[in-house]
Amino acid sequence: MSNFIQEFNSPATETPSIHRCVRVCQNRTCKKQGAKEVLAAFAALPVAEVTVTASSCLGQCGNGPIVLVLPDMVWYSGVQPHEVPLVIEKHLLGGHRVQKMLYYRFHPQG
Ligand code: FES
Repeated sequence: MSNFIQEFNSPATETPSIHRCVRVCQNRTCKKQGAKEVLAAFAALPVAEVTVTASSCLGQCGNGPIVLVLPDMVWYSGVQPHEVPLVIEKHLLGGHRVQKMLYYRFHPQG
């Protein structure tokens, strides 16, 4: 791999790669809001060092579909399937949270 490609694919920060877990709530309320499709969208675009799992209720019913990225403790609310590629590109690959999708309750400043 050339240096250019290596740099292009590296996160902006110099942190060592970490294994992330994306938890997508599949409980009743989030499911009614489209969580099944959100989980499918993550599953369709696998990322190295990232595990995607269906989660039981994350305690934020009504604000779903809720997605929690660990160990970052970043919460996304009202996630739509078409927004999943953005989370993957910016957060999971780029290391930067997607400000406009952050859950206001846990990220009040965005
Ligand atoms: S049903 Fe998803 S947070 Fe409770």
